[in-house]
Amino acid sequence: MKTPLWLLTAGIALCACTKTKTPESTHVPADDTTILQAANTRPLTDIKFEKTEARLKRGEYLANGILQCFICHSERDSTQAGFPPVAAKKGGGAILGQLGKFRMVAPNISPDKETGAGNWTDDMFARAIREGVGHDGRALSLPMYWASFSNLADEDLASVVVYLRSIPPVKNALPQRLLPPEREKELQGSPKMLTGPVAFPDTADALKKGIYLVKVADCVGCHTGWYGTNPGMFGGGNPMYKNTNHKPVWSTNLTPDPTGLAGWDAATFINAIRTGKGGTLDASMPWAAYRNMSDKDLTAILTALKRLPPVNHRVLNSLPSTDCAICGQKHGYGEHNKIKPFPNVKTDTTLYNQYAGKYSNPDGLVLEIKYKDHQLLINEGGPDLLLVPIGNNRFNGIGLATPVSFERDKSGKVSSLICYWIEDEWFKKLP
Ligand code: HEC
Ligand code: HEC
Repeated sequence: MKTPLWLLTAGIALCACTKTKTPESTHVPADDTTILQAANTRPLTDIKFEKTEARLKRGEYLANGILQCFICHSERDSTQAGFPPVAAKKGGGAILGQLGKFRMVAPNISPDKETGAGNWTDDMFARAIREGVGHDGRALSLPMYWASFSNLADEDLASVVVYLRSIPPVKNALPQRLLPPEREKELQGSPKMLTGPVAFPDTADALKKGIYLVKVADCVGCHTGWYGTNPGMFGGGNPMYKNTNHKPVWSTNLTPDPTGLAGWDAATFINAIRTGKGGTLDASMPWAAYRNMSDKDLTAILTALKRLPPVNHRVLNSLPSTDCAICGQKHGYGEHNKIKPFPNVKTDTTLYNQYAGKYSNPDGLVLEIKYKDHQLLINEGGPDLLLVPIGNNRFNGIGLATPVSFERDKSGKVSSLICYWIEDEWFKKLP
């Protein structure tokens, strides 16, 4: 599949409300394509993950399932539905896309000593997978899901590394990536070092496990329409194969709305992922990997999706692309989508000025609430969006990624803002 993936889909879930478009590095005709070292990284340690049967098994399950490592790091068989990885080439890497002289390469991560990762240390893997820095110190770019993999629990990370070191070596020499110089610069500061252990969620709780899997897989990156007017997180509308001449395909709505997965039960969901809806689902949806997950894990994923705030936005790739009033783009079913007005809820607008201010999440992302002409506006980094009351102390808005609400501290002062997506995300009010 020759798709300049690094220009398109596979967003990184930074945070609920603020996630903006994936930066699009279109081209620049300069000659300096030197690969730059990451600016913020940590020294490598000599950590060694002990090889155990349990880790080998778990690592195999994760890498071939929810983490879809070989969908990118292998040649794929385009004669089969879903383009599964070619078994004999697993981990051998692949050129993911080429645009003019630029290219994105998923390196050979199989244990081949000459052309692959045979000489890398365990921490080179660990740092690349969860912190976005390659074995050679370069900042890794978008198609590599390190930002969502940063949610991977320590033991799961160990399992994946142990397993990858056990797969058969694949001899496959690949060129290095070649990016426009300003994209290299932009990347330099992007890695994020982990500051503490990442615990494994309570596996007895299907919802918690589902949230873990959805976050690690970055379903939201693909399944949200970042490019038009955002219909809401997980509401679909992200174009795959942007800037290519491949037939356009749009991600679909995964929220529990009638235009999304409201009518789906576990059996329907499992069947859709296992079979790629009878082989009809496009290969940009990594079902060829997800189908290897257990019924239990797939059911957990659906459980987590079912608690998302519903988003009204249908995408049907079997229909021709027509104008969509909701996301402002052209996609299958678009012309049939109607904007549903938010419920007209009465609220005490005299409280509004108390909400105004800046709010920050633990990652330092800042949202601003503005009070203007008796109305509330939210700024997530793009244009100001109008907040409409949809319930007691709950607001939504056209183009807003998630509904929001406000919390007060014991003294009654507004202290936080909450965004609702796969988990509730808290932003503290800045003084
Ligand atoms: C959507 C595609 C994609 C998926 C899925 C993916 N990777 Fe990657 N990976 C890449 C790309 C592309 C790069 C190189 C990025 C760059 O050079 O900017 C990369 C880089 C890496 C590196 C660093 C290689 C080096 O040169 O140091 C490692 C290690 C790695 N990936 C392991 C994994 C593992 C393990 C998984 C599954 C847990 C995985 N990747 C899933 C695309 C992917
Ligand atoms: C790389 C992008 C990408 C990722 C990651 C991704 N999807 Fe998809 N998904 C798509 C696209 C595109 C479609 C539509 C394909 C088509 O219609 O042929 C789709 C379709 C689906 C469908 C079928 C929906 C329907 O109404 O037919 C389901 C269910 C689904 N995805 C669930 C998930 C889940 C759950 C995750 C995370 C575990 C996920 N997807 C991750 C791109 C992605």
